[in-house]
Amino acid sequence: MRALVTGGAGFIGSNLVDRLIADGHEVVVVDDLSSGSRDNLAQAVTSDRFRLHELDVRDPALVDLATELQPEVICHLAAQISVRKSVADPAHDASVNVEGTARVLAAAHAGHTRKVVFASSVAVYGRPSTIPVPGDAPTDPRSPYAASKLSGEIYLATFRALYGLEYTTLVLSNVYGPRQSPEGEAGVVSIFTDGLLNGVPTVVYGDGSQTRDYIYVDDVVDGFVRACGQAGDGRRFNLGTGIQTTDRRLHSLIADAAGAADKPGFAPPRLGDLPAMAVDPVPAHEGLGWQPRTDLGTGIKNTVEWARSRRRS
Ligand SMILES: NC(=O)c1ccc[n+]([C@@H]2O[C@H](COP(=O)([O-])OP(=O)(O)OC[C@H]3O[C@@H](n4cnc5c(N)ncnc54)[C@H](O)[C@@H]3O)[C@@H](O)[C@H]2O)c1
Repeated sequence: MRALVTGGAGFIGSNLVDRLIADGHEVVVVDDLSSGSRDNLAQAVTSDRFRLHELDVRDPALVDLATELQPEVICHLAAQISVRKSVADPAHDASVNVEGTARVLAAAHAGHTRKVVFASSVAVYGRPSTIPVPGDAPTDPRSPYAASKLSGEIYLATFRALYGLEYTTLVLSNVYGPRQSPEGEAGVVSIFTDGLLNGVPTVVYGDGSQTRDYIYVDDVVDGFVRACGQAGDGRRFNLGTGIQTTDRRLHSLIADAAGAADKPGFAPPRLGDLPAMAVDPVPAHEGLGWQPRTDLGTGIKNTVEWARSRRRS
């Protein structure tokens, strides 16, 4: 299959690219390198089944590219990913995440693409009343980022109704693993790892009892690969473990793997942070045959090992 991966130079996208190439597929990446990097594609560029187009997904040239390439599947991961930036500049967030998604869908239509697989976020659930959040939970976007991701989901359904373009939406919980940047707000695992390996003080916001559902990047990639097939058309699936891990426990696990002292500083909770989050992975098992396979301890060891090897290189 020929797959086009938007955001393929980013954390999750580049791990997906490596897996697709390893599975024998041809992969074209569209990325403007705004937060992704060529370093993430160091393995991919050694394959003659790989190509990178440095292009903004909002650029009309994307439609020409898809018309020429006719990708069977498009995995759409390119996005403005910061909730805080979306609050500071909602128009920019909408431009990348809504206009960008509309352009990707127009490109999919022009390129006779069979299916689009879309990366959405647990942010679309707002403050859920049930945890783990069921697959059919109501959406309640409470940030421009959540609104733009949900708009993307609505556009997918619209293009399916208009043109029969297949889609699957994957709602990702807190993804962690090699290549996640410690810059920004999303990657608490990479932030703690970076701090604990480099002797930089680490900070837990609140009393450490806030929980998140950490899912290892290889497991998320496996969800994308499964969704590229025939299963799950027209549906949204949560990709998470259903398990809540407190910030304090996460810090202990990473400190242990890094061989560092488990002594975070504490700061007041940040406005708008949810006290708890986890999503129910069972529908993804039933609909895609997917399940999380990497336990948190193993995933953290791999992540710390990767960060250590980067320090050496
Ligand atoms: N990491 C998580 O925990 C998480 C959770 C929920 C959802 N997601 C979603 O998964 C996707 C990938 O996230 P990630 O963590 O790998 O982030 P990332 O920042 O590493 O990857 C995003 C990629 O998109 C590219 N990009 C951004 N704007 C672009 C544009 N206008 N045109 C072309 N390329 C552009 C960036 O350069 C980058 O390579 C995003 O859609 C994000 O919203 C991630």
